[in-house]
Amino acid sequence: MPTNSTPTKPNVKHINESQVVTQLIAQPKDANTIGSVFGGTIMYWMDMAAAICARRHSNLRVATVNVKDVQFKEPIKVGHVVIIAAEMEKTVRTSMSVRVKVQLEDTYTQITKVAALAQFLIVGLNESGKPSAVPALAETRNTSQ
Ligand SMILES: CC(C)(COP(=O)(O)OP(=O)(O)OC[C@H]1O[C@@H](n2cnc3c(N)ncnc32)[C@H](O)[C@@H]1OP(=O)(O)O)[C@@H](O)C(=O)NCCC(=O)NCCS
Repeated sequence: MPTNSTPTKPNVKHINESQVVTQLIAQPKDANTIGSVFGGTIMYWMDMAAAICARRHSNLRVATVNVKDVQFKEPIKVGHVVIIAAEMEKTVRTSMSVRVKVQLEDTYTQITKVAALAQFLIVGLNESGKPSAVPALAETRNTSQ
C-alpha cells in the first residue's frame, strides 16, 4: 500500500505488489434494455483495473496501447456483484502485459461465474509522455507480505 514517504524505485517487482481487485454492483445505467451490462462498460472497468495494476508496478504514468483476447463469457445482469481482478503477467522494456478477469456474483444463489477476460498491453511513460523502462517482473510471488 502507498505510504507518505517516497521510496526508491526497485528494478524488480513481485506480482502481488501490483495486484488489483475491485468490486461493484451492476447498476441500471450500466445496462442495455434487457438488463445486461454493455461490453463497453465492462471494458472500461477492466481498463481501469489494468491501469491501476500497471501504475502500481511501474510508479509511472501509463497508457493502454493494445487489448487482446477479449472474451465476454457470461452476461452480467443489473444487481450482480462484479469482481474485477488485474494481475501483472509479463513486462518487456517499457510495456506491461496485464491479465484482467471479471467475475459476476449472484449473492442470492451464491453462484459465481467468469464473465469476461482480456489482456491489456500498457506502456509506462515519463513526465514528457515518452515510453520509460519499467521494473522487471519477479518470477516468484513475494511471500513476506
Ligand atoms: C504510448 C505511446 C506514447 C507509445 O509510443 P510508441 O511510439 O508506440 O513507443 P514505442 O514504439 O517505443 O513502443 C513502446 C512499447 O510499447 C509497445 N507497443 C506500442 N504500441 C503497441 C501495440 N499497438 N501493440 C503492442 N505493443 C505496442 C512496444 O513494443 C514497446 O514495448 P517495449 O518497450 O516493452 O519493447 C503511444 O503509442 C501513444 O501515445 N499511444 C496512445 C495511447 C492512448 O492514448 N491510450 C488510450 C488512453 S490510456
